[in-house]
Amino acid sequence: MAVDGAGVVVTGAGGGIGAAIATKLAQEGARVVVNDIDADGAREVAERIGGHAIPGDAASDDGVEALVTAAREHLDGIDIFFANAGIDRGQGLDAGEPDWAASIEVNVMAHVRAARRLVPTWLEAGGGRFVVTASAAGLLTMLGSPTYSVSKHAAVAYAEWLSATYRHRGIVVQAICPQGVKTRMFDDAGGGLQEVLSHDKALTPEEVAEAVWQGLADDRFLILPHPQVQDYYQLRASKTGSWLNGMNRLQQRLEAKGVF
Ligand SMILES: NC(=O)c1ccc[n+]([C@@H]2O[C@H](COP(=O)([O-])OP(=O)(O)OC[C@H]3O[C@@H](n4cnc5c(N)ncnc54)[C@H](O)[C@@H]3O)[C@@H](O)[C@H]2O)c1
Repeated sequence: MAVDGAGVVVTGAGGGIGAAIATKLAQEGARVVVNDIDADGAREVAERIGGHAIPGDAASDDGVEALVTAAREHLDGIDIFFANAGIDRGQGLDAGEPDWAASIEVNVMAHVRAARRLVPTWLEAGGGRFVVTASAAGLLTMLGSPTYSVSKHAAVAYAEWLSATYRHRGIVVQAICPQGVKTRMFDDAGGGLQEVLSHDKALTPEEVAEAVWQGLADDRFLILPHPQVQDYYQLRASKTGSWLNGMNRLQQRLEAKGVF
């Protein structure tokens, strides 16, 4: 696909995976809008890559409206939208109402609200690309975090629905589903969980951005920076009980180590 000169928005790009995607796309000639709720982070990254910072909340309805309007004005049209901002809030059964609400808001409704504004314009123009940073947790599960697992499954489900509905009309939808990636979110997960996330090697954000770059080239729906995720996903579908038993054995090992 033509990235050189394309108008690109990356949400949650003040650090981590979003910053790496924004950097890669800018290197390849895209005109990049860097969004983050952390305004300083967004400005720093934008300055470093020659992009344009539009800080703000990429999840609320008002925030998405402000971002899309300002980005359209700046870029003269958005060609690719990376719905990348995400959070991991609350643990286990104790995850409370605010944790659930925030997770659904940022990990799911942000995508719904952005697509609602972008897709009609893309249908008129004959095409557009919507790339969601979901997670391997959206295909499998994330021990310890029901809020993250459920909201990321919903993120993948919404991306699937968009693709199934609009692919023939030029809308390309893709879902990035990594396991562990060394970012602030990874650092915040703590030692035991980091060990789980590193099971198949924790990647750098730059390695994820490279996988995304390759995924953009062939329009594949699932972008899997950790290729093993494909095998786990197939096992989950074909032998769901065995897969769940294996996850439970892992849970027991983590309990024995005092992680949960
Ligand atoms: N790090 C991992 O192991 C991992 C694995 C799989 C998927 N992911 C996903 O990758 C994406 C990026 O996460 P990361 O690992 O780079 O973590 P990160 O915490 O470094 O980056 C997330 C960024 O999103 C921003 N953000 C949060 N809420 C926002 C909002 N409402 N509006 C705008 N910006 C907001 C944060 O300020 C932060 O800069 C997330 O969707 C995350 O769920 C991460």
